[in-house]
Amino acid sequence: MVATSFDSKESLMQKYSNVMSTLNELKGKGCTVLHEVDVHTMSQHPRLTNRRFDRIVFNFPHGGFILMEHNKIQIKLHQDLVKGYFTSAREMLTESGEVHVTHKTTHPFSKWNIVKLAEEVGLFLVEEAQFTRADYPGYINKKGSGRKCNRTFRVGQCSTYKFAKLPLQLNKPASELGHFSLRSFHLAENLPPYKINLLDGRQLFLSVVDPNCLWGIAN
Ligand SMILES: C[S@@+](CC[C@H](N)C(=O)[O-])C[C@H]1O[C@@H](n2cnc3c(N)ncnc32)[C@H](O)[C@@H]1O
Repeated sequence: MVATSFDSKESLMQKYSNVMSTLNELKGKGCTVLHEVDVHTMSQHPRLTNRRFDRIVFNFPHGGFILMEHNKIQIKLHQDLVKGYFTSAREMLTESGEVHVTHKTTHPFSKWNIVKLAEEVGLFLVEEAQFTRADYPGYINKKGSGRKCNRTFRVGQCSTYKFAKLPLQLNKPASELGHFSLRSFHLAENLPPYKINLLDGRQLFLSVVDPNCLWGIAN
């Protein structure tokens, strides 16, 4: 596992009173810790450029508190950050890997259009899971910038959006697909019946069982 921060180590120590114990705990568990990693360029980072990841996670991306959250310019700033993250993360994924973002789903945060931003760089939603902070004991989300950077914030309604390079995770050989189900799905511009051509020449037919479940059979 690799944990990264945008801040330098010195800046982290100034901003977060307890950060050294967190960093030591991570290192003690065998995690590589890297600082000054910008999501826009992380795929080119000398320590990351040759590595591929199963999961790449960014909780509550935020471009800084410059204008009001509903201001269009502020939203564009956040969108540029998220899109930069998606673009770099996509290059760093294993074939069946996933890029995760946890984000507030209420207005004005819903205006960031996370799913559309991902699709624009070739990442497709495979699941939107409700995020509950209590499921992650020890995790305290932080504001991360401004005078109150060390303060936590109320997450309210939010989701973890999970994206993959292929819609529906069709990254296995067709022979291994058999039957499968997905808890949630998003098919960008397609309309039923869903038919996907597999690399081995076979076709995958998909049908909607109920609004939350999609079934596929490879023929
Ligand atoms: C709201 S904080 C969330 C921090 C942490 N992920 C959490 O869950 O508590 C937003 C974070 O985005 C990071 N960030 C902003 N711009 C970035 C960039 N270009 N590359 C990497 N991280 C960035 C900031 O350093 C800040 O830590």
